[in-house]
Amino acid sequence: LDDPHADPFEIARTAAADIARLTGVEHHDIALTLGSGWGKAADLIGETVATIPATDVTGFSKPALEGHVGSLRSIRTPKGRHVLVIGARTHYYEGHGPRRVVHSVRTAAATGARTMVLTNGAGGIKPSWKPGQPVLISDHINLTGASPLEGATFIDLTDLYSLRLRDVARMVDPTLDEGVYCQFRGPQYETPAEVRMAKTIGGHIVGMSTALEAIAARQAGMEILGFSLITNMAAGIQTTPLSHQEVIDAGKEAEPVISALLARVIGEL
Ligand code: 6GU
Repeated sequence: LDDPHADPFEIARTAAADIARLTGVEHHDIALTLGSGWGKAADLIGETVATIPATDVTGFSKPALEGHVGSLRSIRTPKGRHVLVIGARTHYYEGHGPRRVVHSVRTAAATGARTMVLTNGAGGIKPSWKPGQPVLISDHINLTGASPLEGATFIDLTDLYSLRLRDVARMVDPTLDEGVYCQFRGPQYETPAEVRMAKTIGGHIVGMSTALEAIAARQAGMEILGFSLITNMAAGIQTTPLSHQEVIDAGKEAEPVISALLARVIGEL
């Protein structure tokens, strides 16, 4: 994937063949990337058919961060749909090129998945939000300056986060609010001035993932659903300093509730 002459879609097809061989599941319908706080959802979606280390699959990088489990899981829902759960996210802040960041999404598409569910832990800007609250992503602003697309790939990003799927999620939980996700490069959290900028340009959520993956998912023709767990309020919105530990702890605390919500939504897809 670091070789500019290699075809990332070809590598994704090889990875999908690895997954089919290692899980025994030829085709997946839905792919789900689990961010901080969402990890327990996998246990509630259905029966696990197979769990494989992501490092056994072509093109997957070793996980850099504690709390990010490097495994792929194939789950069968009660309705008989096959869900590929991606517990091995590669972040742009790790210094990898966008090709590596979106490899799991392209691989999911190559396994047959037509629906991509992206989850993350993120900072909240809307003052009415509380840490521990899940929100839907209605749109994004990509502030990384990067793109997973190469060359003259002029794709449309209208309704990137499917209105239909957001309505399905709101059917499960009518109290779900939504907001615009701003992807920063990280790994440092934003300054209060950067958070004010994000707010001014129409952002409600700040994070370090998801937007590049959503672009790749749209390119692959997938329908996208995005969820953020608000683990903390963004810098300057909350007066106390931000810490990674705070983010992890908020994720752990909210995990049972939001995982149950996510599993119910997946069941309705
Ligand atoms: Cl405040 N910012 C970013 N970029 N990512 C986060 C966060 C904030 N809180 C959790 N993840």
